[in-house]
Amino acid sequence: MSPLRTALLVLLVAYSGASDAAQVLLPRPPMGYNDWSVTFCALNETLFTKTAEAMISLGLQKAGYNRLNLDDCWPLGERAANGSLQWDPEKFPHGLPWLAKYMNDRGFSLGIYSDAGNKTCGGYPGSFGYEEIDAATFSSWGIDYLKLDGCNMPDTSETTYQKVYGHWHEVLNKLPQPLIFSESAPAYFAEADNLSDWYSVMDWVPQYGQLARHSRDTLVWNSTLYWPDITGWDSIMFNYGQEVRLARYQRPGYYNDPDFLNVDHANYTIHEKRSHFALWSSLSAPLIISAYIPALTPEEVGYLTNLDLIAVDQDPLGLQATLVSQDGTWDVLTKDLAGGDRLITVLNRGNWSASHTVPFSRIGISSSHTVPYRLKDLWSGQFSHVSNEITATDVPPHGTAVFRLSSLNTPIEIIPTGMIFNTYSLNCLTSSAKGSTSWAPCDAGDAQVWQTPEDGTVRSLLDTSKCLTDSGAHAPVYISSCDRHNPQQVWKYSVTGNLRSSLSGLCLTEGIYNATTSTKCGWETNAQVIALPGGIKLW
Ligand SMILES: *[C@@H]1O[C@H](CO)[C@@H](O)[C@H](O)[C@H]1NC(C)=O
Ligand SMILES: *[C@@H]1O[C@H](CO)[C@@H](O)[C@H](O)[C@H]1NC(C)=O
Ligand SMILES: *[C@@H]1O[C@H](CO)[C@@H](O)[C@H](O)[C@H]1NC(C)=O
Ligand SMILES: *[C@@H]1O[C@H](CO)[C@@H](O)[C@H](O)[C@H]1NC(C)=O
Ligand SMILES: *[C@@H]1O[C@H](CO)[C@@H](O)[C@H](O)[C@H]1NC(C)=O
Ligand SMILES: *[C@@H]1O[C@H](CO)[C@@H](O)[C@H](O)[C@H]1NC(C)=O
Ligand SMILES: *[C@@H]1O[C@H](CO)[C@@H](O)[C@H](O)[C@H]1NC(C)=O
Ligand SMILES: *[C@@H]1O[C@H](CO)[C@@H](O)[C@H](O)[C@H]1NC(C)=O
Repeated sequence: MSPLRTALLVLLVAYSGASDAAQVLLPRPPMGYNDWSVTFCALNETLFTKTAEAMISLGLQKAGYNRLNLDDCWPLGERAANGSLQWDPEKFPHGLPWLAKYMNDRGFSLGIYSDAGNKTCGGYPGSFGYEEIDAATFSSWGIDYLKLDGCNMPDTSETTYQKVYGHWHEVLNKLPQPLIFSESAPAYFAEADNLSDWYSVMDWVPQYGQLARHSRDTLVWNSTLYWPDITGWDSIMFNYGQEVRLARYQRPGYYNDPDFLNVDHANYTIHEKRSHFALWSSLSAPLIISAYIPALTPEEVGYLTNLDLIAVDQDPLGLQATLVSQDGTWDVLTKDLAGGDRLITVLNRGNWSASHTVPFSRIGISSSHTVPYRLKDLWSGQFSHVSNEITATDVPPHGTAVFRLSSLNTPIEIIPTGMIFNTYSLNCLTSSAKGSTSWAPCDAGDAQVWQTPEDGTVRSLLDTSKCLTDSGAHAPVYISSCDRHNPQQVWKYSVTGNLRSSLSGLCLTEGIYNATTSTKCGWETNAQVIALPGGIKLW
């Protein structure tokens, strides 16, 4: 058993030992439908029943898409005299309990939207001060999933968001059958000049709920409404770019949410749509389609029902793939899959079709093997055998190749390997042959691909006999020959994103002029929050 797998097992055992209801409420990322990207406020009963029928007839339900979630604008503008929210009877003539039953009878569940503040983002009544009433109402209607937005809060401080979302957690957990809790809180703290509050919110959302929207909404049909600065493909890359900073938070039962698969948005090529799906699956992200499902093309339904990719999304380990390397054109990601398999995802950000080869050493397989591994191309379904590298051939512009690597006999031995980057500056930790280190724009060179084995050492592929070495307060961190007894070379990673020296207790820091030093650990500061290969491995 590899060190990584041992670590994961310990974690899984720890989680099941804790056996808090919230941790087993949603053992796999949710899959389903939400109306928002297409309808905005023009949702109604017919849309939902027609969508459910289409999800059955198109085979989406059979592939695992089993939720239909209402978004904003479903209620009347006023609460009832007794304080409860009321559905809009023009939009939902049979009522929401009827709709929930309609869904349940067909093997779906119904989800709902509300807002933690006084009003929803669309101006409908918010749940602030009505938490108990609203939770009981949703539950009595037969709803099992709540997306809680964060507009119009009493104030915009991180502590207020924590108080209100924490209260919701308690209220939902007291229900006989707790609702799945999707928290939009982190999105209100993303993209700040100072990311400390964003990181702080990310620290508590996994304790309160099952998924959290960490950044921008995906584009709606009418895209300029939210984000005048980006459209089309750039918006997919934007949300993906936020998600990869947060891998350390994800675990079975809690999922980072990079938002909807807006499949029928006008400005995506088919390759971009397929990438969207392949990347979200690689990240074990929620797969919530926000599109007019009855009109999806066979090609779109075809990729959305790719069972090999869905299996990667729904993998029991629930891991988010982490970055191996990134150079402006190619992103390579990898993760452990249940049963000892390995995922390799290769994204072509370039504007031309091209091929890219990933050596085994980069996905954490260090020793050479005489028996080749079996490789499945998850798009074509074709098998091949590989023994020291994987080539993604003719990846279309903005396309993504995805592979599943399996051993034919013994489990694959893995050393977590990949980029170490500052999740604020996005600079990569870079080693040099001379022994110095720096933070530099990521270029996918060996000097930026690091192994983080279980012994706590950190070694770049430039020379794996050398280790990242702490020299003490405010001094540069350097590379020197690994010595198993040297405490200067042992580092501890935690969910705060800090990489801490065992010797001095100081944190790896991106200093001015991109210097790499160890300095006093602050509270999740821009200079000290770092992504490591393998995500939660050292948590
Ligand atoms: C329901 O909503 C859809 C999508 O917004 C719209 O096309 C349709 O006309 C609406 N139907 C009714 C009965 O309101
Ligand atoms: C509150 O009033 C609404 C509308 O009159 C009613 O449907 C609902 O059952 C009431 N809720 C409770 C808890 O009595
Ligand atoms: C929200 O409602 C509460 C309670 O009614 C009130 O005290 C507060 O001022 C309201 N906040 C805003 C921003 O409207
Ligand atoms: C960043 O925000 C945190 C939390 O609000 C605060 O404690 C810290 O002082 C801020 N850092 C800087 C450099 O402004
Ligand atoms: C686009 O957004 C504007 C502003 O909210 C809204 O008035 C309009 O109806 C939207 N258009 C569509 C097609 O949804
Ligand atoms: C699609 O892209 C074109 C050109 O880049 C732009 O003019 C248009 O507004 C975009 N449409 C949407 C719906 O984003
Ligand atoms: C692809 O083309 C776009 C638009 O012309 C450009 O902004 C972008 O930098 C190009 N990407 C690469 C990787 O060359
Ligand atoms: C230092 O980091 C900045 C981004 O924060 C980058 O633009 C710059 O190129 C880096 N300098 C060096 C020498 O790598």
